[in-house]
Amino acid sequence: MKTLVTCNVNGEETSVLADTRDTLLDLLRDRLGLTGTKEGCGNGNCGTCTVLMDGAPVNACLVLALEAPGRAITTVEGLAVAGELHPLQRALVQHCGTQCGFCTPGIVLAAKALLDENPRPNEAQIRHAIAGNLCRCTGYGKIVEAIAAVAAAREQG
Ligand code: FES
Ligand code: FES
Repeated sequence: MKTLVTCNVNGEETSVLADTRDTLLDLLRDRLGLTGTKEGCGNGNCGTCTVLMDGAPVNACLVLALEAPGRAITTVEGLAVAGELHPLQRALVQHCGTQCGFCTPGIVLAAKALLDENPRPNEAQIRHAIAGNLCRCTGYGKIVEAIAAVAAAREQG
């Protein structure tokens, strides 16, 4: 059975038909074509599918599409402004915090949620914020460095 889901996706009111069994991840990737959100495990273990729902990070594979109506969803596609990468995206590139890039959208969104709530996190808080996001390539040192650099730059600015 299909249901019309209306929610705000990356700042735009969006209405889309979803199957009652669809996850938010299905809604974003398959119904809206927002494939920046990746599917790794599909069962809540890897964090690759992390998006923001009303500003809080969620695993989109664990949220039903029918939970989305009235909510604000932010995906990685919503971060760049006028073609300019978000500072977290730039920092991950500059600090070599991304290799295959599969985990990167989820990590960027988890880090964004952290910095929105706590602009000056310490290393432990950064590691805690991305603890649910698995990276098979880089290890975490460079990712943590990148997030810390964005926080430090904001502090100076
Ligand atoms: Fe959602 Fe792994 S795909 S947590
Ligand atoms: Fe490849 Fe993280 S950069 S999984």
